[in-house]
Amino acid sequence: MERKGIILAGGRGTRLYPVTEAVSKQLIPVFDKPMIYYPLSVLFLSGIREIAVISTPQHIPIFKELLGDGSRFGAHFEYIVQPSPDGLAQAYILAEQFLNGAASALILGDNIFFGHQLPKMLINANSEEARCTVFCSQVSDPERFGIIEIGQGNQIISIEEKPKLPKSNFAITGLYFLDHNAVEISKSVEPSLRGEYEITNVLQHYVAEKKLDANLLKRGFAWFDTGTHSSLLRASNFIETMQTQQGLMVACLEEIAFNNGWVTTDALHMAAKKYSKSNYGVYLESLLSAV
Ligand code: G1P
Repeated sequence: MERKGIILAGGRGTRLYPVTEAVSKQLIPVFDKPMIYYPLSVLFLSGIREIAVISTPQHIPIFKELLGDGSRFGAHFEYIVQPSPDGLAQAYILAEQFLNGAASALILGDNIFFGHQLPKMLINANSEEARCTVFCSQVSDPERFGIIEIGQGNQIISIEEKPKLPKSNFAITGLYFLDHNAVEISKSVEPSLRGEYEITNVLQHYVAEKKLDANLLKRGFAWFDTGTHSSLLRASNFIETMQTQQGLMVACLEEIAFNNGWVTTDALHMAAKKYSKSNYGVYLESLLSAV
């Protein structure tokens, strides 16, 4: 059974108020496209095209309007309501029916990844259903994250959530490739002191079973969690710089779907026409002339 994808795009985004007072955080732009395009592109690059978007009852209709049923990308999207944002592990419980016994890749709707060989790493993490991998990035402020201690062969020995004395500088990012047991494990997790079903508690089960590998994103890799006004601006500037420098678009969903062989040039044509007045459409047009 193929691995399925989950994008957690709930939460109130209160740290971005008043920007997110009337609009979902994951729909605000990171440079030239809605934020959710970036995590969606990560799942596409992994080769995953059965995807559930989890969000609030208020925002689901807007996600549906933007992304539809996924068919224009040769993918399949479902939408799952999260009545209240009670922690990342809740995503697995809400997605139980959708997953239907499949392994999953969960990504947070505000996470952006960029770096050399990212597609290779993602395809590798997705390659075996029984393999569990978290992507970990070097950070300068480890007290703010789930931090790993790493053993031989990149196996994780321990994880501490927001440690006072961090055992490493590698933070667990918002991208989790877990096996089919994630749903049952999440059901057994008790809410933490901050009242949330913590993903770290789920991951600790896998650590105890020696089943969790770390994929370390080292020097030259960019990971953004666009949770604050400043990080949002930094991410936008970064994407603008990369795209202008290389002339290649980051997280262009139609391009990835086309490269994956999920859609024909007709779909690219249609999208290029629809967006012809924007640079996004001009880029799609340029892809067509290169075919
Ligand atoms: C959550 C996780 C933490 C992880 C972080 C990544 O933290 O609990 O382990 O390192 O996401 O952004 P939160 O953002 O809920 O504080």
